[in-house]
Amino acid sequence: MRILTTIAEVRAQARLWRRAGRRIVFVPTMGNLHAGHLSLIEAARAHGDHFIASIFVNPMQFGPNEDFAHYPRTPQRDEQMLRQAGCDLMFMPDVAEIYPHGPQRAARVEVPGLSSILCGEFRPGHFEGVTTVVAKLFHIVQPDAAVFGEKDFQQLTIIRRMVTELCMPVEIIAAPTVRDADGLAMSSRNQYLTAEERARAPAIHRTLQAAALRLSAGEQDYAGIERCGIEALASEGFRPDYFAVRRAEDLQAAQPDTRHLVVLTAARLGKARLIDNLQVRR
Ligand code: PAF
Repeated sequence: MRILTTIAEVRAQARLWRRAGRRIVFVPTMGNLHAGHLSLIEAARAHGDHFIASIFVNPMQFGPNEDFAHYPRTPQRDEQMLRQAGCDLMFMPDVAEIYPHGPQRAARVEVPGLSSILCGEFRPGHFEGVTTVVAKLFHIVQPDAAVFGEKDFQQLTIIRRMVTELCMPVEIIAAPTVRDADGLAMSSRNQYLTAEERARAPAIHRTLQAAALRLSAGEQDYAGIERCGIEALASEGFRPDYFAVRRAEDLQAAQPDTRHLVVLTAARLGKARLIDNLQVRR
């Protein structure tokens, strides 16, 4: 596996692969890799010949009071895991390489509407940071396909919209959420939970499952299901930001005849802000 830190080196390598007719699949990450990320690489395998992963904790997607400075960084372990997963190139730029004029003065990519609802309402500017860095990384790597986890369902929806709107020739592949045995979705931020909070955390998945069951049974009282979700999470000690039933395609309000739904939630537990979702087809 090659480990590269500059845009020029990555471009040169990717160009060679492309000229040889190889398909490049890209997995952008913020590092601190876990089994959830490895499943993204696994999903990448079916879609190409060469795999590039980036490790970049993107300052633009963190709010002023968020955990940018403390976000867990484990580059050596990440390198080992990517090697074992069969990754061909690990791109590990520093902040100045990606934002030569600083994140504040960088040109930005925004997907209006979708970026300001749900998590966007509670993390202003977050998705603008995500779409900006992903657009930059796509321009650097120029992959044929890129893999994103369904755990960040809103992020996945926004990236899909960005690619369509900006005519980017990148196929977006969704990888299913990887969960611990007790149902908690894997996330680097689970590390912020105390042992006692970790024991309570799977309630987020159980609450989503209860909502999904009602939706699968054909229930259409979405507001009632949302209220129940908020109450259930609060009774387990969470501070929910939202619990929402939406149309999976575009995260807009679900209608009685909507067939593909998604229930999404974000809730704080101690120092951690956990997000999760479940899709329902009926
Ligand atoms: O999902 C993430 O880890 C990040 O939001 C991403 C897509 C790597 C952009 O920084």
